[in-house]
Amino acid sequence: MTVGVFDSGLGGLTVLEALVHRLPGAGFLYYGDNAHAPYGTRDAEDIHRLTRAGVERLWAEGCDLVVLACNTASAVALRRLQEEGVPAGRRVLGVFVPLIEALTERRWGDNSPPREVALKHVALFATPATVASRAFQRELAFRAIGVDVEAQPCGGLVDAIETGDPILAEALARSHVAALRRRMPRPEAAVLGCTHYALIEDTFRAALGPGVRILSQPALVAESLADYLARRPEFARGEARAGFLTTGDPAAVSDRAALLLGRPIAFRAA
Ligand code: DGL
Repeated sequence: MTVGVFDSGLGGLTVLEALVHRLPGAGFLYYGDNAHAPYGTRDAEDIHRLTRAGVERLWAEGCDLVVLACNTASAVALRRLQEEGVPAGRRVLGVFVPLIEALTERRWGDNSPPREVALKHVALFATPATVASRAFQRELAFRAIGVDVEAQPCGGLVDAIETGDPILAEALARSHVAALRRRMPRPEAAVLGCTHYALIEDTFRAALGPGVRILSQPALVAESLADYLARRPEFARGEARAGFLTTGDPAAVSDRAALLLGRPIAFRAA
């Protein structure tokens, strides 16, 4: 089995790392649309077009199952992709639902009516496009009542991470946390709703302080994919291949990825 892992750039590598750890026998082919990152400041039409191109490229590589390791694509493009029709035997999964299931204490497939959950005040940090889509609030409302969500669009942050500017990334993360706290002084939990932000989780943790639980999306997505494959064994068959594709400059992208993950990574042109 080779699962396709899609992101606008390098953020999805945080999900890939967790997937490889959780499913060591599987193959994963990563696709970073670095030439067009960030997605978070693009309009819905653009995000949909770019996401579709990436997903079709991964299907062409034999990845019947593709995980959108990108909240922006999951929030803005996934539903439309599914409505347009996914070819028989192929699937596209997003990263939003596993996060919301964890937040609302649900197991997969629990379609009971929305109910009260322990968390009442949740901070969402995400890209401007994800925040504008309100997909997080919509998915949450299907499952929980009485949860107050305060969303902070973190302009500039993906760019700072993609271009390898940790000082700017830290300053931006701190200022976005401070901006959110002015509207919600005491969140109980924080959702890092962009896969890039997992790369600077420590900065968010320091800025939020010890009383705020951070929901770690990579681990939740990996657990949920393992669960999905156990229920859908047809996707768990076939050859396990691994690799990294980028629409950007493979040498430059490989260098930045190696810096972020602390080990060599070789991207090739998509
Ligand atoms: N890592 C992406 C996400 O989870 C993409 C962000 C972007 O390209 O703006 O939202």
